[in-house]
Amino acid sequence: MDFNELSAITDEIEQIRKTYELFDEEYRLNRSKAARVEFLTTVHYIEKYLQPRAKILDIGAGAGEYSLYFAQKDHRVCALELSPANIAAFRKKLTPELPVELVQGNATDLSRYADESFDAVLLFGPLYHLHSETDRQRCISEAKRVCKPDGKLFFAFIGNDMVFLTEFGYRPDYFTNGDFDKTSFALTDFPFVFHTVPECRRMLLDGGIRILHEVASDGASELLAERINAMDEENYAAYLRWHWYICEKPEFLGMSNHLLFVGEK
Ligand SMILES: C[S@@+](CC[C@H](N)C(=O)[O-])C[C@H]1O[C@@H](n2cnc3c(N)ncnc32)[C@H](O)[C@@H]1O
Repeated sequence: MDFNELSAITDEIEQIRKTYELFDEEYRLNRSKAARVEFLTTVHYIEKYLQPRAKILDIGAGAGEYSLYFAQKDHRVCALELSPANIAAFRKKLTPELPVELVQGNATDLSRYADESFDAVLLFGPLYHLHSETDRQRCISEAKRVCKPDGKLFFAFIGNDMVFLTEFGYRPDYFTNGDFDKTSFALTDFPFVFHTVPECRRMLLDGGIRILHEVASDGASELLAERINAMDEENYAAYLRWHWYICEKPEFLGMSNHLLFVGEK
């Protein structure tokens, strides 16, 4: 499977499954200090709201990075994932004593879960994979339905605007030959679906979500990867403190590959 074969797949669900035969999701968030910034920032926000032994639903759980982390902290986790490759990577790390129930499924249909049954619902993946707004709104509506009235919802997006700078780091001709509309600067939605900050905000408001935080979850970490990866622990901790100081500033939000929105219903 290569990118040409992937782009030729017309069935969207099949295309998402095959995407993760190409991308190694298992190490995306833990392969380096720079890659870890997104994970640590996201956990920092989730933990602001978690009570002990919370019930968490991880939708689009990937290879289980968040599910396993929270299960190890004695929270009870249900995880739903579409891709067989990611489920296999996740299962490899599951041990019988961990309170994780992992199933294969689609985020647009959470009918296996009861109304108002989770304290925290994580939707980290489907909103940057599904092309139709109707499907994305179905995911948001299902996530809301299963979230308790006082629960919190966490949404991840891939930002449209930072990709230019990170891709330019790999391809000197990106601004002339990159895959985006040369007038509007909208990226071509393949293999991911990209959104600007106002588009993310609009999507969640249309879905009836009250937004509590808008967060640049990884910020400049991919651009600065070499320097961040060379940091000792003390400097890395100080970098993270700065990142968390700046990551909700409106003037910084668009300059992040990943965006985290925290909300409630
Ligand atoms: C980049 S991975 C992120 C994994 C993990 N949630 C994280 O944040 O690290 C995106 C995940 O969303 C999953 N996904 C995409 N669309 C989905 C859908 N409609 N239903 C369930 N999972 C989906 C993909 O298979 C993939 O594992």
